[in-house]
Amino acid sequence: MSVHPAPNKYKKITTHVLQEMKEKGKKIAMLTAYDYSLAKIVDAAGIDAILVGDSASNVMAGHITTLPITLDQMIYHASSVVRAIERALVIVDLPFGSYQGNSKTALDSTIRIMKESGAHAVKLEGGSEVIESVARIISAGVPVMGHLGLTPQSIYKFGTYNVRAKEEEEAEKLLKDAILLQEAGCFALVMEKIPAELATKVTQALSIPTIGIGAGGGVDGQVLVLHDMLGLTTEFSPRFLRRYLNLAEEINGAVGAYVKDVKAKDFPNEKEQY
Ligand code: KIV
Repeated sequence: MSVHPAPNKYKKITTHVLQEMKEKGKKIAMLTAYDYSLAKIVDAAGIDAILVGDSASNVMAGHITTLPITLDQMIYHASSVVRAIERALVIVDLPFGSYQGNSKTALDSTIRIMKESGAHAVKLEGGSEVIESVARIISAGVPVMGHLGLTPQSIYKFGTYNVRAKEEEEAEKLLKDAILLQEAGCFALVMEKIPAELATKVTQALSIPTIGIGAGGGVDGQVLVLHDMLGLTTEFSPRFLRRYLNLAEEINGAVGAYVKDVKAKDFPNEKEQY
């Protein structure tokens, strides 16, 4: 496997760089990361943005939804990632319960994330329902990324992880929400698991960059959950997911070989001791 050094045109990615990328038609590559070691590798490989997603609740902690992860846990993950990166923009998810109550709670949660982790921006789920919080966070000087379509914090309202906004009414609301989020000052918008045609239409209607996950190729950038694209998770295989490695199998092989060597008294050998 070849090593991909970071492209050096931009020393550091800011929200302004992402805007410039949209304007120049350059695609934005985003991945999640939750820990120091993987974030360091992902940053050095040239990723534009790292999302410290609340998907940490699933892939790091083993919960079945994103709802249980706490603000303290998100700050722990985010500060580990921030210590690793030299170039990428780091965006942190506001976890469930840390912003839905009112805009003061949303701002207080954001201030904790920014002060205690050193991240560069936050992301939150929803449109008109959270617009007051979005505006209040931005007025405090913190960049906000929106998230529409399949918003996993609302899974018990949706009932399934199926594609969202297939019906006209929901598609129209999504477009309206996207425009509202842009008008409130969001620097970018994630759209998750919606028809490609709708995602393209929203992208063309907005001047800010759109980042898709399961939203087709007509958006300004793509995001995947790192553990899914590396094949560390095996039980999750939606159509939109491209796996670049099968790390679960590789690690299983490596651990199996280690166990065998220890049991056979083959490890450590003469050269591996003092
Ligand atoms: O938490 C997360 O990983 C996300 C992405 C799926 C966009 O929100």
